[in-house]
Amino acid sequence: MPGYELWSDKERKEVNDVLQTGILMRYGFDGPRKGIWKSKELEEAICKTFGSKYAQLTSSGTSALTTALSALGIGYDDEIITPSFTFVASFESILSVGAVPVFVDVDDTLTLNPDAVRKAITPKTKAVMPVHMCGSMADLDALITICKEHKLILLEDACQSIGASYKGKALGTIGDAGTFSFDFVKIMTCAEGGAVMTNREDLYIKLDGYTDHGHDHKGTDRGADLHPFIGYNYRISELHAAVGLAQIKRLPEFLTIQKKNHEQLKNILAQVPDISFRRIPDPAGDSCTFLSWFLPTEEITRAVVNEMKAQGILPGNFYWYDNNWHYIRKWDHLKNATTLNALHPDLKAQVIHHATKDFAASDAVMGRCISTSISLMWTDEQIKDKGEKMVSVIKKMLNKSSVPS
Ligand SMILES: Cc1ncc(COP(=O)(O)O)c(C=O)c1O
Repeated sequence: MPGYELWSDKERKEVNDVLQTGILMRYGFDGPRKGIWKSKELEEAICKTFGSKYAQLTSSGTSALTTALSALGIGYDDEIITPSFTFVASFESILSVGAVPVFVDVDDTLTLNPDAVRKAITPKTKAVMPVHMCGSMADLDALITICKEHKLILLEDACQSIGASYKGKALGTIGDAGTFSFDFVKIMTCAEGGAVMTNREDLYIKLDGYTDHGHDHKGTDRGADLHPFIGYNYRISELHAAVGLAQIKRLPEFLTIQKKNHEQLKNILAQVPDISFRRIPDPAGDSCTFLSWFLPTEEITRAVVNEMKAQGILPGNFYWYDNNWHYIRKWDHLKNATTLNALHPDLKAQVIHHATKDFAASDAVMGRCISTSISLMWTDEQIKDKGEKMVSVIKKMLNKSSVPS
């Protein structure tokens, strides 16, 4: 997810504006900042670009999720349904507000299986948190229907899907709230940063205060702020926001290149009949940051991964099934509820219970999936070369197996 690949004078210029004044903080210092408000400008640009009424910048995607969960009133004893395939930050944020992450299976969309969501609902379920993994979307129509039927909150973790959409609406703007990550390897980056988007004013007021120690931001004197609730410091800095401001203006350019490169690589892999591709509920909305594809069996997939490794063409191809960061199979720290401080014993028991359930349906999908990350830097020749080398390995391994290629 390559915003960082096209670093330019545009980012340098925005950062230099901030360095000129030396006002690195997003609030206050109205005189010395000489009209430079990068964080505010970026929030306005997020609203305009993605069609959200409100946007609150945060220090990271993780703090964006924590902030959104808190503002949505999620906490003690609440169950939040979330997928078995995500980045660890998704469940970290749920735990950090004292709620219980209830993991459910993913399907061939690589996101929440709506039937599995239905089965996981209990009287304690408060929210469904789909994760739009690898640049593309969950089956949002099905999830919205479930949330309406059961009066559940829908919080979109769109940290990996900036610029993707579903039926014309930007991912992250469809649920009660949605989050982006602008860390260094996201589609656009601030170096570190995140955002929560919502169309609800009541929620936005909470997001705004929560990320700045609960200060109510009512007057111009920060020292006179009151505290309607307890908050934390999840602020972004002006330097980080400045980078994001340059990047958001370049997002259409990033997405155009990404879609072109994705299509070229997909056309090459599609020549192999035994390859199938991730199901995308709205193909027009795919941000195309990854091309995710399936082989017929886990055994063949492993053989392909090993052969790509042997031939030095594995980098950029992710076999999530064995990945320590993204798939529940490898989250031993979660399965043991290993924390540095004591969890309430009931929460600990719940965490262990939900993390150690049977995820055979997810295994059947993830064990056969490889995601190829799409670079903005590739030339047409490099794509052709990469694709052909991959096809050659895949055909070789299919031929060795019992599945005809
Ligand atoms: C799905 C998902 N959620 C949340 C995050 C957290 O974002 P950050 O790294 O900005 O804290 C990430 C980051 O990789 C992510 O991939």
